[in-house]
Amino acid sequence: MKILLTGAAGFIGMTTTLRLLARGDEVVGLDNLNDYYEVQLKLDRLARLTPHPGFRFVKLDVADRAGIEALFAAERFDRVIHLAAQAGVRYSLQNPHAYIDSNIVGFMNILEGCRHSGVQHLVYASSSSVYGGNTKMPFSEHDSVDHPVSMYAATKKANELMAHTYSHLFGLPTTGLRFFTVYGPWGRPDMALFLFTKAILEGRPIDVFNHGQMRRDFTFVDDIVEGVIRVMDRKAEPDPAYVSDTPDPGTSNAPYRVFNIGNHNPVQLLDYIACIEDAVGRKAQKNLLPLQDGDVPATFADVDALRDWVGFTPATDIRSGVARFVDWYRGYYKV
Ligand SMILES: NC(=O)c1ccc[n+]([C@@H]2O[C@H](COP(=O)([O-])OP(=O)(O)OC[C@H]3O[C@@H](n4cnc5c(N)ncnc54)[C@H](O)[C@@H]3O)[C@@H](O)[C@H]2O)c1
Repeated sequence: MKILLTGAAGFIGMTTTLRLLARGDEVVGLDNLNDYYEVQLKLDRLARLTPHPGFRFVKLDVADRAGIEALFAAERFDRVIHLAAQAGVRYSLQNPHAYIDSNIVGFMNILEGCRHSGVQHLVYASSSSVYGGNTKMPFSEHDSVDHPVSMYAATKKANELMAHTYSHLFGLPTTGLRFFTVYGPWGRPDMALFLFTKAILEGRPIDVFNHGQMRRDFTFVDDIVEGVIRVMDRKAEPDPAYVSDTPDPGTSNAPYRVFNIGNHNPVQLLDYIACIEDAVGRKAQKNLLPLQDGDVPATFADVDALRDWVGFTPATDIRSGVARFVDWYRGYYKV
């Protein structure tokens, strides 16, 4: 298949592209290589993809309407995996416009491209953050997600609404995947595992929010990739069980689906830190701080729907996943 994968120089994008190439798909990888975090890391990820004959890189911003129109007009993509986005909850408090440009305008451009070029299935990254202030655990696709607590979350929820509209109006099959805290080798420098590993190795204290009273459903990147590819291979379809008198937020009578993709095994932040300490071989100095605005104290994915749909749920244990990250970090940064 010929696939457009946006965010190809990103953490999840690179890992997904490698797997698609390994199984023989042709991938056009798009990224604007922005400097939200170190550009060299994005370039080094790309360098793992560019030697492959099935891969082509396009440097483009998804918010560039004319550029995206031209790309879809020139190519015939069978599937689109849309991972490019302005990520990060905390940054969205200071830089909300970046989220509107990349996540809303950019998503609109991708939808239009898919619509006009007959793409058979659009798979896009949503986020566990759409559950916002919900405290009913585990988080289920059948729950309402109308109470976001950050602009990042609001843009991801908006993507689901926009996708539904296109599935309904134009019959475009769309599947949104709500990723739950993804971690692993080549991970993002703004995320806790990276920040903690770096600080511990440099002998600096780590900032532990909500005084460590956080639970996260940490999900290993290889599991996420397995889920993304299985979902891409199975096009969204209308749900015959959907009843519009009692609308289920998780499905639709349009070819539209959303799924949680998480480990279904939330871990206390302090236990996660203990795994990092073990993998690094040093103790962390903890700077205990209150919960940050926009953050949520706990996430926990109900993954029954994903398992029923594609026969798979993530299952990598945190100890081995963290060890694989720390090995990569030490090798990449030579520490
Ligand atoms: N990592 C997680 O824990 C997590 C959790 C939930 C959702 N997500 C979502 O998964 C997707 C991938 O996340 P990631 O962790 O790999 O992040 P990432 O930042 O490493 O990857 C995103 C890539 O998209 C590119 N990009 C950003 N804005 C762009 C634009 N306007 N045009 C073109 N390219 C652009 C960036 O340069 C980057 O390489 C994102 O949509 C993110 O919101 C990630």
